[in-house]
Amino acid sequence: MTDPEISLYSAAPASEPERQYYFMDRAKELVKEASERAGRALTFHVTTFGCQMNARDSEKLEGILRKVGYIEEADEEKADFVIYNTCTVRENANQRVYGRLGQLGHAKKSNPHMMIALCGCMMQEPQVVEKLKKSYRFVDIIFGTHNIYKFAELIAARMESDRMVIDIWKDTDRIVEDLPVARKYPFKSGVNIMFGCNNFCSYCIVPYVRGRERSRDPKMIIREIEKLAADGVVEVMLLGQNVNSYGKTLDQPMTFAQLLEEVEKVDGIRRIRFMTSHPKDLSDELIEVMGRSEKICRHLHLPLQSGSSRILKKMNRRYTKEQYLDLVDRIRAAVPDISLTTDIIVGFPGETEEDFLETLDVVRRVRYDSAFTFIYSKRTGTPAAAMEEQVPQDVVKDRFDRLLREVQDISAQVCAVHEGTVQEVLAESVNDHDPSLLTGRMSNNLLVHFPGDPSLIGRLVKVRLVTCRGFYYLGEMV
Ligand code: SAH
Ligand code: SF4
Ligand code: F3S
Repeated sequence: MTDPEISLYSAAPASEPERQYYFMDRAKELVKEASERAGRALTFHVTTFGCQMNARDSEKLEGILRKVGYIEEADEEKADFVIYNTCTVRENANQRVYGRLGQLGHAKKSNPHMMIALCGCMMQEPQVVEKLKKSYRFVDIIFGTHNIYKFAELIAARMESDRMVIDIWKDTDRIVEDLPVARKYPFKSGVNIMFGCNNFCSYCIVPYVRGRERSRDPKMIIREIEKLAADGVVEVMLLGQNVNSYGKTLDQPMTFAQLLEEVEKVDGIRRIRFMTSHPKDLSDELIEVMGRSEKICRHLHLPLQSGSSRILKKMNRRYTKEQYLDLVDRIRAAVPDISLTTDIIVGFPGETEEDFLETLDVVRRVRYDSAFTFIYSKRTGTPAAAMEEQVPQDVVKDRFDRLLREVQDISAQVCAVHEGTVQEVLAESVNDHDPSLLTGRMSNNLLVHFPGDPSLIGRLVKVRLVTCRGFYYLGEMV
């Protein structure tokens, strides 16, 4: 780990989070001066790519931005400070960032005071940073996934110099608590329970860009959830790349199921979700806790990746087709009304038509409520990138289309089974297309649109599901 202390700031406290609060004060003065020069308040815009973990990180960035005096601007190109929190899980995620960055470069020409910061998973790849240093000189701040808590310090460093500020750490064992967060929703929130990943699935770049697995202290997690509940949050989503291995690295080890039981006890929290579960670590204890819980939602995201045991082995997933199907049976026996969703990759190196048919077979047997389907993307540095027999693109595309059709047909049928029932729904927003409707989410994660007053947002209400429209319902409150 490299932790470059900036000698300029010898007065700054060495311990965290005190050091960051020092820099928040400092950045606040600098922002105030800049805003006086501009004759108006300075604005920010954060764009988030990738998964829920990144979305949660962006809320932390936003917490710091607000604390130092920036206000939000909806139009990215008008903002004084633009932040891209990037993802690199598939190549097209990277391409999108470069594309948008090019446009932003033009916007910066007409607004030379604009600052641009890039952070997140893509920045953990050395070749990306090299490319930015060479061809995107207009970027002001570059930092990675391990030091986002230092954002205020980096803002201050940039504002006090004219140079590009780059601070990337290879890995960290540090978790800094008690920094500001600006939540996107008042009534629900993500909560990190662990960081990093140790699984090294052979196609996946996440362990390289998010570092080694480390669990947060359960006392800190519960304290955060208690505070959220006191602040009006009714639903929490516990976040980690593999929540089922939570607690293994703690001084006093604890299982994920035990953590869930603690979260269940927090007054005011009505719904608990979690993301993501690795099938190899999903314990009987967890199934049992889910079966008897009043608060854990009737939804489990259980990534399959492939239905072929041969491919699963090459993917280093450490379960077979049979073990996966057996796990699904055990979960359904304990929680009969559970909705199952998944992630599937097509075109992994060496995937044959027979392997693909095994995947289709699992899809038909499990009957997922929905599935995210991905075309395999070669990630430099992962073991799969060096594997021979990359599958030709036209073959992959054909399999992808066949899989998508199957997944969509099944999911429309599965979704429709709740028609006519009354469900508890968390009202989340005014409908995008029709302001007389509210959009709410059921325990099983399906959406329902129903007539209702915006004052109900954040409340759990009973809704009759009148008609199923494929992937969502239209309903009415009862
Ligand atoms: N930790 C989670 C997944 C995080 S990445 C888990 O283990 O389930 C989200 C999804 O992206 C993965 O489930 C996988 O389906 C997909 N993915 C990851 N790497 C990929 C790659 N190289 N090409 C295509 N899809 C990929
Ligand atoms: Fe990637 Fe596998 Fe870790 Fe998920 S469990 S983040 S797919 S390496
Ligand atoms: Fe992407 Fe990083 Fe998440 S690579 S999927 S944003 S952990």
